[in-house]
Amino acid sequence: MSDTSQIIDNMFFTSCQFPPTTPCLSLYMRVPCGMTHTTKELAALQDNLALRGVQKYILLFSMGSQFDHLIVQQLSRLGIYCHVVDPSLVRAKDVRSLAPAGIILSGGPASVHAEPPPFDTKIFSLGIPVLGICLGFQMIAKHVGAKVVAGVEREFGVHDLTLKKADPLFKGIRTKTPVLQSHGDKILTHAKITLLGSTKNAPVSAGRHKHLWGVQFHPEVTESRDGARFFENFCRGICGITDRFPAESEALRKVKELREKIGNKNVLIALSGGSDSSVVAYLLRHAMRKSSGKLIGVYIRGIDRPDDEAFVRKYFSNQKWIHVEFADATQAFLLALKGKTAMREKRLAMRGVYKEILERRIADYDAQFIAQGTLYTDLRESGLGNKTGARVAEIKVHHNTGNGFSVPELTPLDDCVKDSARDIGRELGVPETLLVRHPFPGPGLVVRIEGEVTHASLSVARAIDGIYIEELRKAKLYDSVWQAGAVVTRSEHTVTKGDDAGMGTVVALWAVWSVNGFTARFAQLPYEFLEKVSRRITNEVREVGAVVYRISDKPPATIEWG
Ligand code: XMP
Repeated sequence: MSDTSQIIDNMFFTSCQFPPTTPCLSLYMRVPCGMTHTTKELAALQDNLALRGVQKYILLFSMGSQFDHLIVQQLSRLGIYCHVVDPSLVRAKDVRSLAPAGIILSGGPASVHAEPPPFDTKIFSLGIPVLGICLGFQMIAKHVGAKVVAGVEREFGVHDLTLKKADPLFKGIRTKTPVLQSHGDKILTHAKITLLGSTKNAPVSAGRHKHLWGVQFHPEVTESRDGARFFENFCRGICGITDRFPAESEALRKVKELREKIGNKNVLIALSGGSDSSVVAYLLRHAMRKSSGKLIGVYIRGIDRPDDEAFVRKYFSNQKWIHVEFADATQAFLLALKGKTAMREKRLAMRGVYKEILERRIADYDAQFIAQGTLYTDLRESGLGNKTGARVAEIKVHHNTGNGFSVPELTPLDDCVKDSARDIGRELGVPETLLVRHPFPGPGLVVRIEGEVTHASLSVARAIDGIYIEELRKAKLYDSVWQAGAVVTRSEHTVTKGDDAGMGTVVALWAVWSVNGFTARFAQLPYEFLEKVSRRITNEVREVGAVVYRISDKPPATIEWG
């Protein structure tokens, strides 16, 4: 058992106080859009800062980028406190009274032309150092009079940034450094913007106007190699932040929050055998240790991986602290998916079955809460999670967001990405084998089958996943790959087997290297390995005619096929 796990155990006997909370997304001011902050809300925001004993901190204006959380995370790793606010609510006068050491404007799906984000540009004139990232930089550029045009070539992926001029922002960074770009609009050179760096398609990739800095790339993602140094330069070098904000135990804080919410009530948790729901189960285990409420786990069979159920049986079935029920929903899923071919439609149909099964168990067990392993990534990709006025793009409908259950939902990981959720699990003593399992989407094999999901296509999807994952483990590649999947496509390929000829399904394999799923690069798996998997699949799965391997990164492609 880990140290924290021990501390949590002790806590229930000594009921000791938790340390102050760490910087996280719960610090968004959750008020309806279109309103301004009241004096009371601003005072609460200031209390938040006082509680943390922070003298100097960064105010992050969230413009709706799916990478916002990574900025908070990067700064938190550097020991810098970052407070996330809504651009439509916090005005220049508020900023003056909050007195941050620096301001960051994130990226976002909006464009400075068509639908400029709600932001009080008087903030630019306060003399506080500002760093604009992507859209944030375009807002600065527009403010100082530079032209922002729709780029002819959209720039996606990793490119080399060439530094053009020495500046404190790039102190200690090599003159050529890889950065992740993901933008369409382009800033044109302008006398008021000092050019600091360029990439192939973005002549003004980094620039400065007095105390306003901007970059067109995303320093917050792991693909931008010198990202951490870059943030350190801005926050410490330019803004003069010397405080080190202590990184206290997130696990402890979450257990305490859950314990207060749950009391003696019953909780139902959807268990999948993957790491997120396992971490939530352990959080509940600790939170409910002294509760008279019951913890009930439900495993839903039907569109799952070949080995998921075995993991749930092994690690949860025989435990005293949780009662697990196995629900076979294969027929219900097939019925709901019948005739549906569009991915969004299939995702919604799957979600309906998922909700119905859980609602039935909620009633059976008189549960007063439903707990899920929803991550921040899931919320953001569903177009949720950002309670600010900035628009957030819906990338895909997730099964575990916006379901509208009849009882309140507990989603303690909804401010975490995959790697931070795993860290919390480690603190709680979740078995490592569960934590290091590849992520798997809630809609399961549905998103790995093109066209209609039938009994036959499901069995092909399960067979090819089984072979692929088994071979990854055998070749000792499983752990180095962040996630891998096998897709049953709608394409057909001519096959010749012996004297026979016919058509067979094309199977697409993919594997990615990533840290948290926000961005990913295709994994360069050895050819011999791919050849072996391909041979096994075509020999062992009769319906398959050919195997291909996907070589796209995220962005622009997502990790899952559908
Ligand atoms: P994408 O495909 O959006 O995937 O690049 C990022 C991560 O999220 C997983 N994913 C999902 N997880 N419900 C989930 O619980 C979903 O609907 C869903 N869609 C994608 C995906 O497997 C990857 O790990």
